[in-house]
Amino acid sequence: MSDEKQVIARADHLYVAYQDKLVLEDVTFRVHAGEFWGILGPNGSGKTTLLRTMLGLVQPFAGSVSIFGKSPQNLAQDRDRIGYVPQHAVIDFQFPIRVWDVVMLGRSRKIGLGRRPGKADKQAVERALELVEIADLAKRQIGQLSGGQRQRVLIARALALEPDILFLDEPTAALDVNAAESFYEWLHSMHKKMNLTLVLVSHDIGVISRYVSAVACLNRRLVAHGIPSDVLTGDALENMYGCDAMLFGHGDIPHLVVTPAKKGEGDC
Ligand SMILES: Nc1ncnc2c1ncn2[C@@H]1O[C@H](COP(=O)(O)OP(=O)(O)OP(=O)(O)O)[C@@H](O)[C@H]1O
Ligand SMILES: [Mg+2]
Repeated sequence: MSDEKQVIARADHLYVAYQDKLVLEDVTFRVHAGEFWGILGPNGSGKTTLLRTMLGLVQPFAGSVSIFGKSPQNLAQDRDRIGYVPQHAVIDFQFPIRVWDVVMLGRSRKIGLGRRPGKADKQAVERALELVEIADLAKRQIGQLSGGQRQRVLIARALALEPDILFLDEPTAALDVNAAESFYEWLHSMHKKMNLTLVLVSHDIGVISRYVSAVACLNRRLVAHGIPSDVLTGDALENMYGCDAMLFGHGDIPHLVVTPAKKGEGDC
């Protein structure tokens, strides 16, 4: 993570609270061009809040965030360079609409109100569908898709803007282990193919340690961040999960093992 590379997104001494509850405390990190960041942390550790703050959807009460060198409020046209796949995407999969149209909706910010999609918009949608390898499903109604295919539609919708940075919040939450595994294989190869900066929130420590180029361990504070092999140590995991924890290899897939807390020390 050399500082010679362009910084695409950054957080500086970020503090965020909901009402009087502190959720993020003194979080500072940089995302450089082309990096694949994984943000890891237990439930309620502030991962979604961190993404939403970076996108300007939540206001910090202290500290700052910037993307492309601008605060979220001053992004103007640069907002179109940011893709976001939220943890709980608001989309009704029973609604009678084709895959193609859902992906085109992702483009609407660029098309503008009341205007019809032009050639560039149609090409962007085609390209997004090809990138997520569901071009053959373009005419299918979204109600007729599997969970994995739905997830790809949501990502294609974000890619239709042709973003320079893509934020993904728990994109495999609805998938089974095998589907999640092939999804991450695909994400990894897409990252290598395109010069896209990725910020991925995931609970899955195996995925994080195998595919990302940098990892941030969050538990209200940034417990550790850097290269996965340096960061995913017992100390960082213990600080994150609040109990003895270690990673061990099982085949190709690292697993997290936590030692049960002694009586009175809380749950692990
Ligand atoms: N809109 C909100 N109003 C009040 N509290 C909130 C709000 N959103 C989140 N919180 C609280 O902030 C804390 C962090 O939530 P956040 O959603 O950022 O965690 P997370 O790490 O993404 O969790 P998960 O892994 O379950 O998705 C939690 O205690 C949560 O209950
Ligand atoms: Mg979350």
